[in-house]
Amino acid sequence: MIKSIWKVFVWSLYVFVLVHVSACKGKQPEKIITEPIVPASTGQMLAKTPPMGWNSWNGLGEKVSEKLIKETADAMVSTGLKDAGFAYVIIDDFWHGGRDSVTGQLFPDPKRFPSGMKALADYVHSKGLRFGIYSDAGTKTCGHQPGSLGHEEKDAKLFASWGIDYLKYDYCYCTDYDSENNDYKMAIERYKKMGDALKATGRPIIFSICEWGPRSPWLWGKDVGGQLWRTSYDVNDSWDKPRNDNSPIGIQTSLDVDANLERFAGPGGWNDPDMLVVGLKNNGNIKGGGCNEIEYHTQMSMWCMLAAPLMIGCDIRGMDETTKTILLNKDIIGIDQDSLGKQGFRVFRKDGLEAFKKPLSGNRVAIALFNRNSTPKKITATYKDLELDPKTKFKIYDVWKHAAVNQAEGIFSLELNAHECQVFILSAMEK
Ligand code: GLA
Repeated sequence: MIKSIWKVFVWSLYVFVLVHVSACKGKQPEKIITEPIVPASTGQMLAKTPPMGWNSWNGLGEKVSEKLIKETADAMVSTGLKDAGFAYVIIDDFWHGGRDSVTGQLFPDPKRFPSGMKALADYVHSKGLRFGIYSDAGTKTCGHQPGSLGHEEKDAKLFASWGIDYLKYDYCYCTDYDSENNDYKMAIERYKKMGDALKATGRPIIFSICEWGPRSPWLWGKDVGGQLWRTSYDVNDSWDKPRNDNSPIGIQTSLDVDANLERFAGPGGWNDPDMLVVGLKNNGNIKGGGCNEIEYHTQMSMWCMLAAPLMIGCDIRGMDETTKTILLNKDIIGIDQDSLGKQGFRVFRKDGLEAFKKPLSGNRVAIALFNRNSTPKKITATYKDLELDPKTKFKIYDVWKHAAVNQAEGIFSLELNAHECQVFILSAMEK
């Protein structure tokens, strides 16, 4: 106990000195983003709110490089995404050069990452951002790059020495589909091995479990050291695409899986319905046909209602105004990042019209009304349908219009376009 209090004291002193030294040099101390980085030794919780950032996979796929990652980090700052809470810059698959046959060390592709990962991490950190990387619990990654199986401790130490703050850990090349009783011992064991190895480095590294859902990672993800776990297969740039073998799914399909898992999410451990496709417009790596503007708004709205990790995938160096409006909406992000840490849940469903509710801090609640139909529809939902006290009066705030709005007391009634979702924050008025 005394030892850990002492450690906290020493770290606080260290941070204090750092801030003051940079202030003396005439530099502004970095503004705190989402939550401060804490040393693992303090035992403080990682990912108190769902992690937010940018990941290379949806937009770049195999084309990751030091140059593009640096430009993306710059754009995170210049576009205001960093100030809106997007903290992590994560390189997904295909950063690899190989594994050294003598030392067993992983190394990045020297052509695409000529300065090495440590230098790149330093660059990302110098922008006040955090740096993430990707590996796999099997022999190879999904892109056939070297996996971490059998090298967990070595790889975790290497990642920590580079200054990695986040590890996405995939599950390709793992062969446990027929495990006895379907209790997924192999997945649990492999993820725990890496979870423990990350903890042992002493560096606070967010551990993102990417097993895609079939082994119910929401039941064991936290126990193996994870702060988030994928609940679905890959979401591509399409609205509604049910899964066939080895195919990605659409936004709505992923939403439907995650919508029933609210009791497994909370501070320190989040359901992850996969990354945002907002702004890709079928130009990225994953394709799928593309979504329209309404559908991108809906993904952002519903991901925030579900307290999902928010990982942007589009090229943020050249976002158009619509994409900026969606990704930089601090009102909807506030719902995702609310300190109560509750995932929203479905309270109403009729004729393809749905309502979701997410309890928020400060005696507030977010309500999302959503039209699954491919034609415009009118939704009418009473406070009883929405599981709200019919006697309470609420102030109602529209998070996309950024304005207070009126609704008749005790009922919500509005027109929704095809696939549209409208989101409101209700604050109970003093009686
Ligand atoms: C899997 C993951 C994706 C991405 C790719 C990389 O499909 O689910 O998110 O990381 O691998 O190869």
